[in-house]
Amino acid sequence: MAHSRVEVGLLCLLLVLLTAASESDSTPDQLYLVKMRSHPGQTEEEALLAQRAVLSATMGGDWKLNNCMIYSYTKVLNGFAAKLTSPEADKLSGMDGVLTIVPNAILNTTTTNSWKFLGVESLAAPNTGALWKKAKYGDDVIIGMIDTGIWPESVSFSDAGLGPVPSRWKGTCVEGQDFTKANCNRKIIGARYYAAGISSVQNEYLSPRDFNGHGTHTSSTAGGAFASASLSGYATGTAKGGAPRARIAVYKVCWSQPNGRASCSLADMVAAMEDAITDGVDLMSISISGFTDAPFYFDVLGISSFHAMKRGILVNFAAGNEGPTIKTTNHNEPWSLTVAATSQDRFLGADVVISQTIGSKPGLKLKLRGATFTHYPTLTAPLVLASEASIHPDDSKSLIAATFCSDSSMLDSSKITGKIVFCLLASDSALDSPLAKSENVRLAGGAGVIIGNNKGVANYTLRPINHNIPAVHLEDVDADRLVNYVKECDLSICVFRDGNVQATIFPGQTFLKYKPAPVVAWFSSNGPSGVTSDILKPDIAAPGLDILAAYTNGQYGFGSGTSMATPHIAGIAALLKAIHPKWSPAAIKSAIMTSANPLDNEKHRITNYLNRPASPFATGSGLVNPVAAADPGLIYEAGPRDYSLFLCSLYSDKEVEIITGESFFCSSQKHIPPATDLNYPSVSVGKLVKSTTVTRKVTNVGKATSVYKVKVEAPKGVKVTITPSTLSFDKYHKTKTFKIHLKRTHSVDAASPEGYVFGSFTWSDGKHKVRSPIVVGHAPQ
Ligand SMILES: *[C@@H]1O[C@H](CO)[C@@H](O)[C@H](O)[C@H]1NC(C)=O
Ligand SMILES: *[C@@H]1O[C@H](CO)[C@@H](O)[C@H](O)[C@H]1NC(C)=O
Repeated sequence: MAHSRVEVGLLCLLLVLLTAASESDSTPDQLYLVKMRSHPGQTEEEALLAQRAVLSATMGGDWKLNNCMIYSYTKVLNGFAAKLTSPEADKLSGMDGVLTIVPNAILNTTTTNSWKFLGVESLAAPNTGALWKKAKYGDDVIIGMIDTGIWPESVSFSDAGLGPVPSRWKGTCVEGQDFTKANCNRKIIGARYYAAGISSVQNEYLSPRDFNGHGTHTSSTAGGAFASASLSGYATGTAKGGAPRARIAVYKVCWSQPNGRASCSLADMVAAMEDAITDGVDLMSISISGFTDAPFYFDVLGISSFHAMKRGILVNFAAGNEGPTIKTTNHNEPWSLTVAATSQDRFLGADVVISQTIGSKPGLKLKLRGATFTHYPTLTAPLVLASEASIHPDDSKSLIAATFCSDSSMLDSSKITGKIVFCLLASDSALDSPLAKSENVRLAGGAGVIIGNNKGVANYTLRPINHNIPAVHLEDVDADRLVNYVKECDLSICVFRDGNVQATIFPGQTFLKYKPAPVVAWFSSNGPSGVTSDILKPDIAAPGLDILAAYTNGQYGFGSGTSMATPHIAGIAALLKAIHPKWSPAAIKSAIMTSANPLDNEKHRITNYLNRPASPFATGSGLVNPVAAADPGLIYEAGPRDYSLFLCSLYSDKEVEIITGESFFCSSQKHIPPATDLNYPSVSVGKLVKSTTVTRKVTNVGKATSVYKVKVEAPKGVKVTITPSTLSFDKYHKTKTFKIHLKRTHSVDAASPEGYVFGSFTWSDGKHKVRSPIVVGHAPQ
């Protein structure tokens, strides 16, 4: 029946495997997701019967044997997932009661790099001391993690000191391979897994246990407990999540693939989100890709998120790792919070000093700093350039292999044994790996390695890597300085000062207060939204580069991706939920967005990996500021009705019904406001022809009596007038409306190359700063 959905799913999976094995049919069945029309007062049983009825009408009475309903979503969404041939899908889509049918898709976790064990270190969670106290460390807030599962034995998931499981919790702890009920505790209060929608699950735990590491990492970032942690040479610290006393509910939907990535089926994700909603999570954190340009009525993850929002649950999604290309943001619906990734003000690296003797006198020293995550004692040894240590210096191929340390057999051991070798890195592709270079040097007898980027190779290639010998990795400009230093030049003919040059590689350490920070991660997906440029996406930025968090087998490791940024925001949202239990998803979202910081720690606009100012298409409202988010002063409130009206400005009655479940909503409205009038915490006008007026309203959640004044930073070529420019409140929770008039003053030529210009407006009462980015599109689209 409806409540035994998982069992139905497993049974069907068996059937599918059996039929697939015996099938000679050349057109394999494909998995589809079907959305059904709901009737007022319909029970779960009735919904299930109606779903079976359309399947049987499509395929005849024996649909149960021939085709398989993998999932029935009756609790929240009213739909199902079934294996169909394409003619069957066509037939089904015309059936009475069927709203839409979309093919299943396989998505990816949004992490960029493979996992590397690196020992244990402090997690650079935002410094939120006072906020943590106020929020009781997120006590009792339940975060649903839709991911690759969890490694429950990690100390980050200890339940020491936690009270009983919140009584409102209705979830469960599903057992499976190497996972029993004893693996759930007062920290991991629930765990389920979903595999019916994915074709192959191999070398995996068929249970909530995490094989891949991604889910353990994101879970410990969002809600990991305090875990005392240290690693020699690096900062001793405490590993912790954003909300260390929050409860974690695990929904495993992504399964490791042979290439180390994890694949996640839409059909499984929708089942998990529906369970999370009915189990009683307060928030969800989903570090999985989605769609960049699918209409909202096609995007079943966005639809599931809509139903979560209706029940007061904010869904936090990763924006994706398809940047810096524009129009690559995933999860563009306005009711979800979409997260971009940045660096942190922390650099994991080591200093290196180069010295030389000229004649009998010591020359000037050159001091440089590079990236590393090694922790060896100080090493001093003669420095040799790999380009001078080729085994066949006259053969160009061999010389290149030596110069770039890409083949250990091309390095002359007699020239490098016991020495520190300088290797060039040619490109920013994953194939030109710093770790492979240090390995090649080690194999050929070298004692240490300095990797230097070739001119023009992007700085983001500098990663903290746990090399097997002392090693640092330098930016292109520093590599150039090193090479110039060690060569003696006479009338532009340079020779290497062999034998005279020494290098010292100091132990790796954590450099704090690193500047500039944050910098937008090069991979972080960029707006404008491919669905509608009247909503700015991404919404917010958080650290997502070289994040250390728990990993499988009790280890800790680095991860990079918008995957790693998202649980930071989920953890902060959990703290806000603990302080303000009644706040809606839109209120939490607004607080996080309007308090964000658009500037870096040098008080410049946040930059991108090319050292250029990043636009709101990369950063959203800016870097999250957890302390300010807890006390935002004003909030932009919005609820299901506001979002439905917004959808009416884009779509037909039926398309809106697919998302909201409500029929004839748009045609029953007297007035449909333009999309730009959705009460969003940022303002984006995708196409400004001459002038337009946008309406917003703010609700006072600060001091009862307060006066806010507005300050505008107008986008280039646009005149911005906000009326009234002062908002006076005499009560808590009072709402005030204002209008933003935008008028073009320059021709299209004056706009930025992408056709968009950027500005902001900020309401302030002297204490709070409630800031919204303004994006204006000039170009016709
Ligand atoms: C998932 O990642 C693979 C590469 O591993 C890529 O080929 C595929 O297109 C990705 N899928 C999505 C939906 O992004
Ligand atoms: C790397 O960063 C330095 C500043 O630290 C800058 O001068 C240099 O141009 C950057 N290299 C590249 C290829 O962007």
